[in-house]
Amino acid sequence: MRFIDQLDIAGKKLLMRVDFNVPLDGETITDDNRIKAAVPTIRYALEQGAAIIVMAHLGKPKGKRVEELSLKPVAKRLGEYLDMEVTLAPDCIGAEVEKMAAGLKAGQVMMLENLRFHAEEQAKTVEERGDFGAKLAALADIYVNDAFGVAHRPNASVVDVPYAAKQCCAGFLLKLEWEYLGEALKNPKRPYIAVSGGAKVSSKLGILNNLIGKVDHFIIGGAMANTFLLAQGKDVGKSLVEASLVDTAKKIITKAEGSGTTLHLPVDFIWGKDIENAGGICDADNVPTDGMLLDIGPVSAQKFCDVIKEAKTIVWNGPMGLFEQPAFAEGSLKVCKAMADSDGTTIVGGGDTDAVVHQAGLADKFSFISTGGGSFLEFLEGKELPAFKALKENIDK
Ligand code: 3PG
Repeated sequence: MRFIDQLDIAGKKLLMRVDFNVPLDGETITDDNRIKAAVPTIRYALEQGAAIIVMAHLGKPKGKRVEELSLKPVAKRLGEYLDMEVTLAPDCIGAEVEKMAAGLKAGQVMMLENLRFHAEEQAKTVEERGDFGAKLAALADIYVNDAFGVAHRPNASVVDVPYAAKQCCAGFLLKLEWEYLGEALKNPKRPYIAVSGGAKVSSKLGILNNLIGKVDHFIIGGAMANTFLLAQGKDVGKSLVEASLVDTAKKIITKAEGSGTTLHLPVDFIWGKDIENAGGICDADNVPTDGMLLDIGPVSAQKFCDVIKEAKTIVWNGPMGLFEQPAFAEGSLKVCKAMADSDGTTIVGGGDTDAVVHQAGLADKFSFISTGGGSFLEFLEGKELPAFKALKENIDK
């Protein structure tokens, strides 16, 4: 891998792919963490005397211009962080954009309009993507990828531009993700544990299959635990389950046995008849027939925290319950606190998990909070992310 501080960028024009796919309420950005996270690389490049063309996507406009998905509010917010004007181009390719890019001076920043207004950005085949990536690359001297959130997407701006660009490298945000996810988990200090939760087993199958046998302990909470309870022959009342995955859950339980990984499932729960009010605590063998399991119970939380306390490397994705509701947030918050107190390496990823950590006010107590959602999961599934592959194959030019 090659990073931005290993290239001479003084006087150069950089085309920087960032992930500014932020949530919007009308034109108001409701969470700008992704914008903030890209600022160090941009500031560094400006200090080195580069001119910067930022490119990003927003939402899913599916190849058409959708005014509500313009990057206008994002360019404005970036300008506020950098304390300078960030001009938004009317498009991401075309004569006018080329003229603006050509006139950009060292120390200036411009932003291209939403890449996904063009169908080529997300087209599946090289033929369909055509010369879209080459047109983007031609706007600058050096391609910089600092967009971990989109590193798993084989989009033109991620996988084609590095081949067409004269030179390419990764920014500091990608570097951090690379170091924490790649390096820390390649040779983890042990005990090494994975904590997984959230609604669906289906979205965590890849992680389970990859990490069982590698981690010392795998803790499962959230609604995905319900499917495992079913697999153990337990009754889960009206709880959310993925009935079609009961056999898969059985296979995972069997795979864990003798693999060196101890699987931990909740033994008690906070249940409710609706998603706002807790009905009480029940154990895994006595789930009320009209109840839904909405959080792990105190005994499970304590057991999970005891495992976390001993760990030297912890990777966490997915809350332990319906943490958005105060009645069902306790389990996630306890687990979060135990990780925050750990002196091991603590790595968190995914929007919901990130939200728990912020809700608990413990973000600064974690070693690393990934900016990735899908890309974080795919990394933990052991897949090579297309962004890293494309950068690695082009670092020698
Ligand atoms: C994200 O928000 O996870 C990334 O920006 C990728 O967006 P996508 O899921 O729309 O490709």
